[in-house]
Amino acid sequence: MLSDAEIRGIRAKFRIFIKKVYLNSCSQGALSDSVEASFQEHLQSWHEGGSPWDLWVQKYEQMRAQFASFIGASPDEVAVVASASAGINAIASALDFGKRRKVVLGEFEFPTIGHIWLAQQPCGARPEFLTAQGDDLPVELYAKAVDEDTSIVPVTHVCFKNGFRSSVREICRIAHAKGALVLVDDYQDCGTRPVNVKELDVDFYVTGTLKYLLGPSGVAFLYVRKELIPLLEPKISGWFAQRNPFAFDVRHLDLAPSARRFESGTPPIPNIYAASAGIELLREVGLENIAVQIRKLAQLLIKGARDLGIRIKTPSDSMGPLVVLQSGNVEAIIRRLAAENVICSGRHDGLRISFHVHNTRNDVETVLELLKKNRKLMEPGTNAA
Ligand SMILES: Cc1ncc(COP(=O)(O)O)c(C=O)c1O
Repeated sequence: MLSDAEIRGIRAKFRIFIKKVYLNSCSQGALSDSVEASFQEHLQSWHEGGSPWDLWVQKYEQMRAQFASFIGASPDEVAVVASASAGINAIASALDFGKRRKVVLGEFEFPTIGHIWLAQQPCGARPEFLTAQGDDLPVELYAKAVDEDTSIVPVTHVCFKNGFRSSVREICRIAHAKGALVLVDDYQDCGTRPVNVKELDVDFYVTGTLKYLLGPSGVAFLYVRKELIPLLEPKISGWFAQRNPFAFDVRHLDLAPSARRFESGTPPIPNIYAASAGIELLREVGLENIAVQIRKLAQLLIKGARDLGIRIKTPSDSMGPLVVLQSGNVEAIIRRLAAENVICSGRHDGLRISFHVHNTRNDVETVLELLKKNRKLMEPGTNAA
């Protein structure tokens, strides 16, 4: 567990806290000094080398290995892609919906997940949405829907609009018993606690660097379980998906034997420098430490909001990082908070408050104080917003 002084030291690396209370990592992670410096390092290499592609490709491979170790996978199981959507699309394009047609997914998925599988309908996919019970999506719904006709079960680990945490292990057990694959979208949790894809027993895992991994947009990761890689041939491809991109062979499709076959074009080198620095910062602080701090703050907020009589959309035992409070006028409360330099975001009827290791008990007290002052905006009402 980190001491208050250590947390202050970490917080000092994020310039935004000089002026603002930043509680919006669920949307974009705050910029640290080391991530900023890594952009400069890239610019320097560009100035000095002009086109130092050997160095840049080395950085890209180093980041693949760095992320693989971060999630307990091997580098061959990780594709570096431009967005979570790009990674999932590559998988979707490789599945054969002639044999198993159903895609079973919950209403708590991020919209891109719905769009991707709906777009596969002309290829035979039949997306089937599980209807949430308010802010709950019981695992039994998966047990009822997943059958021998199910190809894949995409599941969000933490829901972007209410902080609900899915029982990934249980869903994997249900899906695997029927021979279906599981794809976990960990965008709203990766970077907040240790993760091991082997222990989770997932087939595919995606996340991106711009939220809790404290990096920029433009880099995302797709993990594919080793045994599945040779069985899947994406219909979205490009030179970086080939066994040897630098063979410059236009006439042959020779897919890489590793998860790189799910990539396509030139990697985003500046973002790779920055993404790598974000992950390194988390590794230095320690994922266990980060998880403890986040859970403490999430629980403090939940207790404080409950004392104010505010309806909490997130389960009360939440370990964070996202706590969502119901508001009758989300846009107005976000504006009021922003006017006091407190940065949060909203989705539908939910005020999203999200924590990372740089946040403190004072941040929670500040936001609770403002919610108390603006209590009326937290009553149920019409979200014209
Ligand atoms: C859970 C989740 N998945 C996916 C995404 C979007 O992924 P991308 O834009 O990289 O495709 C988001 C973005 O907010 C998200 O919260």
